[in-house]
Amino acid sequence: MRRMSQRSRNLPRRSCFSTPGSNERFLEKAPTVPADMSFLDLEDSVAPLEKDSARAKVVEAIRKQSWDDRVLCVRINAWDTEWTYGDVIEVVGNSGERLDEVMLPKVQSAAEVVALDLLLTQVEKRSGLPVGHIGIEAQIETTRGLINVDEICAASPRLETIIFGPADFAASMEMPVLTGGVQIPEYPGDHFHYVFSRILMAGRANGLQVIDGPYLRIKDMDGLRDFAQRTRVLGYDGKWALTPDQVAVLNELYSPTQEQFDHAWNILDAYQKATEDDRKGAVMFGDEMIDEASRKMATKFVFRGERAGLSRSKD
Ligand code: GLV
Ligand code: MG
Repeated sequence: MRRMSQRSRNLPRRSCFSTPGSNERFLEKAPTVPADMSFLDLEDSVAPLEKDSARAKVVEAIRKQSWDDRVLCVRINAWDTEWTYGDVIEVVGNSGERLDEVMLPKVQSAAEVVALDLLLTQVEKRSGLPVGHIGIEAQIETTRGLINVDEICAASPRLETIIFGPADFAASMEMPVLTGGVQIPEYPGDHFHYVFSRILMAGRANGLQVIDGPYLRIKDMDGLRDFAQRTRVLGYDGKWALTPDQVAVLNELYSPTQEQFDHAWNILDAYQKATEDDRKGAVMFGDEMIDEASRKMATKFVFRGERAGLSRSKD
């Protein structure tokens, strides 16, 4: 697939920091929080009566503030509201090139992504942006969205990430819970395991980054660590952060450790020697057998470690 929106596609997204677009104080503070990605929200953290005025505040924050080289995104409203087209026209049309992407919430079908792609193309042409400049992040947070996740992930070359929205998803499933995205102690196992794996597979099959959503108990850092382990271990690229403290935890958690990073490099060296000098496809590395699949796994670790700013230790 021809890719678009190159700048932000492969940037890290260990922490994706949410800021309500109607709150000027928070908008001013957002660039000082060391998150990999910031998104300015026009959707559920903005009250309906503030929706229209939040657009101009978001545009001003994008244009006037200094956002270093992080991924910068705006979450627009879903297609089942009356705000989506206005969000795109006003915010994308006036923000300039620094805006990397828009996030589309509650995506139900591939057609919703295609509709956004088409609208973005018109707005880009009209406002002098390069066509294809704006990427799309799609949130899966309804049952219909999960059923259609494969087609959604393949719907547009603008897609950069697929994101799980646990709070809306719990509501859409009619789960008997009042907090989304936390452990349910009565459930034997992880009640979201299938959902996490399903979204991860669809995202990876289409070359997308895959992101976990919010953890709503914002004072419970141990709980965040514990819950975020699930998607970290499965291979997600990062998770939403609602506070600066959550950002710090997630930046650490979704980076490989130095030890893992060095180990991955050592596997790559040993495998290269085996295949090129000794002409062997499978060899022992310490107590383990390594082969081409090990090289692929190690390459992913190295890529992610480098993206997180690690460099190899000198031995
Ligand atoms: C995020 O948007 C969620 O619904 O969890
Ligand atoms: Mg949601």
